[in-house]
Amino acid sequence: MTATPLALRTIGVDLCANPYPIVIGEGALEQLGAQVLAQGIKAGTKVLVVTNPVVNEHYGAPALASLQGAGFECQRLVIEAGEDQKTPATVAKIHDAAFAQKLERGSLMVALGGGVVGDMTGFAAATWLRGIAVVQVPTTLLAMVDASIGGKTGVNHPGGKNLIGAFHQPRLVLIDPNTLQTLPPREFRAGMAEVIKYGVIGDAELFSELESAEARLASMESLPAALLQRILERSAAAKARVVAADEREGGLRAILNYGHTLGHVVEALCGYGTYLHGEAVAIGMVAAGELALELALWSEGDQRRQRQVIAAAGLPLQWPDLDGEAVLACLQGDKKVQSGKVRFVLPTSLGNVEIRADVRGDQVLAALKRCR
Ligand code: NAD
Ligand code: GLY
Repeated sequence: MTATPLALRTIGVDLCANPYPIVIGEGALEQLGAQVLAQGIKAGTKVLVVTNPVVNEHYGAPALASLQGAGFECQRLVIEAGEDQKTPATVAKIHDAAFAQKLERGSLMVALGGGVVGDMTGFAAATWLRGIAVVQVPTTLLAMVDASIGGKTGVNHPGGKNLIGAFHQPRLVLIDPNTLQTLPPREFRAGMAEVIKYGVIGDAELFSELESAEARLASMESLPAALLQRILERSAAAKARVVAADEREGGLRAILNYGHTLGHVVEALCGYGTYLHGEAVAIGMVAAGELALELALWSEGDQRRQRQVIAAAGLPLQWPDLDGEAVLACLQGDKKVQSGKVRFVLPTSLGNVEIRADVRGDQVLAALKRCR
């Protein structure tokens, strides 16, 4: 007996100027063409699908078949995989393909892949002819719940990650959980860190659901399809709410950086590539939880529960052996520092956070000592 596929669900990103849907469900990839048509993009439109070798091997053909079946005029560009490819030079290759295909103002780019493909294709679309439409088709858990939603696009600069970029909202985000079946397990667990983040920053019900599924969180195989669908929907809805309230990160959107401020320190000081981004965020959330304890913002019990879910998802908890002065210097280099003050997103309970710019260096170091 084969399981009945779950229906596609739609979550709106309710921006005033440019609202768009996030369509989630098993088999969504086969409906890519129909879903693009449903956004008012007409048959005959030129479409450049950007992907990477591994994603192309698994999902390039069905994505193109669906778009061509709906009458789109498609070309495919396969770029190299990896964070080290997230550069202006790779964006130039996407622009070269756009030029060769003679993409016009009304044309479309489709990003088929993880956050690296999504961020670069989004940026190429934002800058080609001063901005053409982009559809995000994320194929990693991290990109499904975070990178594909919200319009942050860009590339890295030798001086730091994502320093070059633009806000450019997609016309559609299409999430097919079936594509996660080929995702390496470590990448799946890294994406789960961002899911846990949504629970802690604003969705206590999601957090409780993760707690009750603790034994099944660490792998795609052990997670029932209905639970994965719910996790994707709740995470996408959480991100959509924040983005709709604060598209350009004037205030509230900064809460999405929970675990990231200290996580970035781990990534930078341990060397990019030692930890996956989601793993560093997991360590950063544990550290932020300890800092919240240091400031008496939340309870030992909440921090214990946070630690337990992170551990159950197979993610690291322990702060690496890093020099304290280097940690404080690295924090000062954070993109979100304002007037020399580091802004920490700290939990006050499971489902609530606040932003604090008054944390002293000695309090940070005391908290990190307890994470060793
Ligand atoms: P990634 O794009 O590098 O993908 C991780 C690995 O998984 C790659 O090797 C990729 O080839 C492979 N892969 C992707 N989908 C697969 C699949 N279905 N099956 C098999 N292999 C697959 O990494 P990521 O974690 O998706 O994204 C990280 C990037 O996203 C970073 O550059 C980060 O800065 C960015 N990001 C952006 C935002 C945003 O708001 N724009 C938010 C979070 C992260
Ligand atoms: N990933 C953080 C944001 O989208 O704002």
